[in-house]
Amino acid sequence: MMRTRPLKVALLGCGVVGSEVARIMTTHADDLAARIGAPVELAGVAVRRPSRVREGIDPALVTTDATALVKRGDIDVVVEVIGGIEPARSLIVTAFEHGASVVSANKALLAQDGAALHAAAEDNGEDLYYEAAVAGAIPLIRPLRESLAGDKVNRVLGIVNGTTNFILDKMDSTGAGYQEALDEATALGYA
Ligand SMILES: NC(=O)c1ccc[n+]([C@@H]2O[C@H](COP(=O)([O-])OP(=O)(O)OC[C@H]3O[C@@H](n4cnc5c(N)ncnc54)[C@H](OP(=O)(O)O)[C@@H]3O)[C@@H](O)[C@H]2O)c1
Repeated sequence: MMRTRPLKVALLGCGVVGSEVARIMTTHADDLAARIGAPVELAGVAVRRPSRVREGIDPALVTTDATALVKRGDIDVVVEVIGGIEPARSLIVTAFEHGASVVSANKALLAQDGAALHAAAEDNGEDLYYEAAVAGAIPLIRPLRESLAGDKVNRVLGIVNGTTNFILDKMDSTGAGYQEALDEATALGYA
């Protein structure tokens, strides 16, 4: 059954990844609502450069005060796609403290502080999801958390990196050199 109150989403960052998240939330709104059981509402977008034109984003939603956005208290889910360690880490912890769960694509931060962020989520009764930060579109984290919940997994080690995969594939399939393939990955916003 569809609940009437929308699921409010705050987007921290609206670059390569964030702009696509916003676009999918808009173009797939009906499909997402049907799957989730509630309409999904983009409630705010935190960026560094507010005057930049962002196609499909209501300028009234854009703010440079990411801290105020995560402290609002009416946000259900914070999507962190700023990248880097700070202010991303503090914003995620503040979001948990103010009643929001967090989805992050931040590989650097999760690699460095994943355990502490998990603890902060648990302390506040919220969830931390980061499937896109681990092996891109390959579902690994959810199967580990849910399907293998009865197994004791001590450690998983490995490097699976989409950008590296793009570069190696380019070098192999087109004969491009490393620098050329890296330049293309950079131009496309992958690297
Ligand atoms: N690009 C990929 O293919 C890819 C794939 C998987 C995961 N990721 C991860 O996704 C995250 C984002 O990557 P991206 O490529 O989308 O980065 P990006 O294009 O550089 O976008 C970063 C966004 O964060 C905003 N921002 C930066 N500092 C901020 C601050 N202090 N307060 C508020 N907003 C701030 C920027 O604002 P402005 O727009 O105003 O500059 C921009 O919108 C990273 O953790 C990255 O590792 C990226």
